[in-house]
Amino acid sequence: MTEELHPKQRAGARLAEIDEFEVRIEKLIEGGDGLARFEGIPIFVPRSAPGDRLRVRLSERRPGYGRAEIIEILEPGPGRRDAPCPHYDRCGGCDLQHLEETAQLRYKAEAVRETLRRLGGIEIPSNVTVVPGRPWGYRLRSQLHIGEGIRGTEVGYFARGSHDLVAVNRCPVLVPELEAVLEGLPGQLGDTSHRRIDVTAGDGGSWTHSPPIDGLPQGEVESRIGDLVYAYDARCFFQGHRQLAPILIEHTLAASKIGAEEGDGTAFDLFAGVGLFSLPLARSYRRVVAVESDRVASRFNRRNAQRNQLANLEVKLQSVESWIPKLPRRPTRVIVDPPRLGLSHKVRRVLVERRPRHLTYVSCNAATLARDLKQLGPDFRIDSMTLLDMFPQTGHMEIVVQLLDREIYPEA
Ligand SMILES: C[S@@+](CC[C@H](N)C(=O)[O-])C[C@H]1O[C@@H](n2cnc3c(N)ncnc32)[C@H](O)[C@@H]1O
Repeated sequence: MTEELHPKQRAGARLAEIDEFEVRIEKLIEGGDGLARFEGIPIFVPRSAPGDRLRVRLSERRPGYGRAEIIEILEPGPGRRDAPCPHYDRCGGCDLQHLEETAQLRYKAEAVRETLRRLGGIEIPSNVTVVPGRPWGYRLRSQLHIGEGIRGTEVGYFARGSHDLVAVNRCPVLVPELEAVLEGLPGQLGDTSHRRIDVTAGDGGSWTHSPPIDGLPQGEVESRIGDLVYAYDARCFFQGHRQLAPILIEHTLAASKIGAEEGDGTAFDLFAGVGLFSLPLARSYRRVVAVESDRVASRFNRRNAQRNQLANLEVKLQSVESWIPKLPRRPTRVIVDPPRLGLSHKVRRVLVERRPRHLTYVSCNAATLARDLKQLGPDFRIDSMTLLDMFPQTGHMEIVVQLLDREIYPEA
């Protein structure tokens, strides 16, 4: 007797036997890959566009899904274009340059919506705000790789999906003063033994780098946002989109319906960096506690507080996980802005126990945000959400969610 295979198993068995086939891209998923299906099995195709009919070659076979590379575009989807950057074909730095910016924004917002719904059971509220970002000349920071080519030292990015260096003399997403550095950088680096250099720009054409290399500008740079001045250097995190940083602050600090005077007037800025949110928080709240585990960033946060005369800001050099038991019950305001991995289970649990009146979650990863909101969900309600295109030409978006304690602020 032959064993009956489930249709998915049958499709999986067929997938194991073929290399090339035709697909139609249904949509973009979080991160920017296109999604197609082979007899129901999801196939992820980088650098594709919704509506594309493509001939693809499988590059990876997994039990429930596959990955494929484009061999030929048989019919382009709406919004497809020739990538403006000459390095796009090989360079792994961007993944959506083949789409018009309006299409990028629409598909990315849909991908966030879909991820939150599928992984977190969360419906994006109807009042969601989508903020486009200047598409070129925006990026304040970059990690460049250094290698040896036939003509000597080369600088660039890793190729897509590998550690092969793609030497670049242009990178139009960078702010102009950083892009201008690229041409002469290999000569300035000489025969350095460093394999990576981080570069960061400030105001007025200034830039700095890390690790120290003779002959290149070192030390800190400054950015003025509104009437606050932030100092930082290339070793620490600073938001990457020059023109959107002030808008991110505005949407993150949005007081919603809750005033800074409610509760005890204390605000906590967790994963605080150099104080992007801590400083403006200190302008409106009685007391602000910032928690950050990076020594360099915390030092800048302290100095930035002094420099901007904000004596009510305390900076704790500590991991959020080890600090979180100190969070008091019912704090007025908490902001969390974790790296892509999101919040640990412990941090989520303590947030639920201590019940901030107003919790703001700033996220650069919809999947971990969905997981975290699911756990926070029963005790908080989503008051508003903003999607900011902080990373044009890539598949990523910044998401700001304003959450209110359900008991104190029930639905209007
Ligand atoms: C996405 S950045 C946000 C920084 C800041 N809110 C901003 O917008 O500029 C995350 C920050 O969290 C810090 N960080 C990462 N893991 C941490 C942890 N476990 N505890 C405390 N800080 C952490 C990083 O050093 C980084 O500065």
